Amino acid sequence: MKGLILAGGKGTRLYPLTFTSAKQLIPVANKPVLFRVIEAVHEAGIEDIGIVVGDTAEEIKQAVGRGNRWGVNITYIHQENPLGLAHAVKVSRDFLGDERFVMFLGDNVIQGGISSLITEFAGSEWNCEIVLTRVEHPEQYGVAELSDDGRILQLIEKPQEPPSDLALVGIYMFDSTVFEAVEAIKPSWRGELEITDAIQWLVSAGYKVFPYVHRGWWIDTGRPGDMLDANSMVLEELEHKVEGYVDRDSQVAHNVTIERGAEIINSVVRGPTIIGRKARIINSYVGPYASISHHVEIVNSEIERSIVLEHSRITDIPARIQDSLIGREVIIERSPMKPKAHKLTLGDHSHVGILNGAA
Ligand code: TTP
Repeated sequence: MKGLILAGGKGTRLYPLTFTSAKQLIPVANKPVLFRVIEAVHEAGIEDIGIVVGDTAEEIKQAVGRGNRWGVNITYIHQENPLGLAHAVKVSRDFLGDERFVMFLGDNVIQGGISSLITEFAGSEWNCEIVLTRVEHPEQYGVAELSDDGRILQLIEKPQEPPSDLALVGIYMFDSTVFEAVEAIKPSWRGELEITDAIQWLVSAGYKVFPYVHRGWWIDTGRPGDMLDANSMVLEELEHKVEGYVDRDSQVAHNVTIERGAEIINSVVRGPTIIGRKARIINSYVGPYASISHHVEIVNSEIERSIVLEHSRITDIPARIQDSLIGREVIIERSPMKPKAHKLTLGDHSHVGILNGAA
């Protein structure tokens, strides 16, 4: 089998972080989501992986390379415009040939990997297998209606009256019949070739489409809140270890990772949390559920349930920072001068929540 990872798209819901950079490279627990996807595909025994890229191609190529790090062979596939998931399959035809393949969205995080479902599909004669999971609000997702013998009968996008609570997860397996489907379907009202339409086409044409019901958690990291949820889930499952320096005046919980070269001085770090390489935490409270990237400095401040990207600096902030996604090389500091006012230099689409009554 081959792997196809989708890492094109625009990432508008994660602006401004993704205004100039790829959303699939935003880290959860200090590792880019895309790297976690590559690892999951590799763990399932797949070595030949195609990555669909768009505007952020150069950044992704630079970060991922040819795949040697994971022992996989990566081919980049250019998609001129993000015209939909089924369009991404269409442009990958030369890479995929006639082999069966798994398609994995490059911004999804799933618990427990995909090995068992790959084994199931590889050994079957099915034309397509989709991954479903039970959700609380099926009306917000693509939902599957199943027959008594467990086949897919119908896929419905955001149904007002959902026929089940089984929503589609961003992992799909196909054989080469999918190319008939992607050639046959037409763009949807939003101008995209939808993968649900392609799968529905396979069902209607009488091909064998079966579901795999995933029982762990699964998160599509489309919005900042999802990113923080995924970060919390992955931090909970991480095997923690301390490789950096912790001074005698600090308290570090057992479920905290301190990466090499990091320093914790006179601070409290609550787990689960990860502190990246050469980060410095001084006179501060960090965690729980914080991912602090490499070369970040946090001084005289308090931060929990947040992601801070590399080379940022947070100094002398009296109020706790929480539920925040902070980009690269950001400076948050207490302004030493008069007038008593908030002084902000923010990129387009930034979002700042000011404490009520804060001076
Ligand atoms: P989406 O989250 O559906 O789309 P998006 O990345 O454009 O995000 P937003 O809605 O915030 O603008 O995409 C899911 C994944 O598939 C993501 O990793 C991007 C990728 N993708 C492609 O590679 N090609 C495409 O044509 C589309 C639509 C998405």
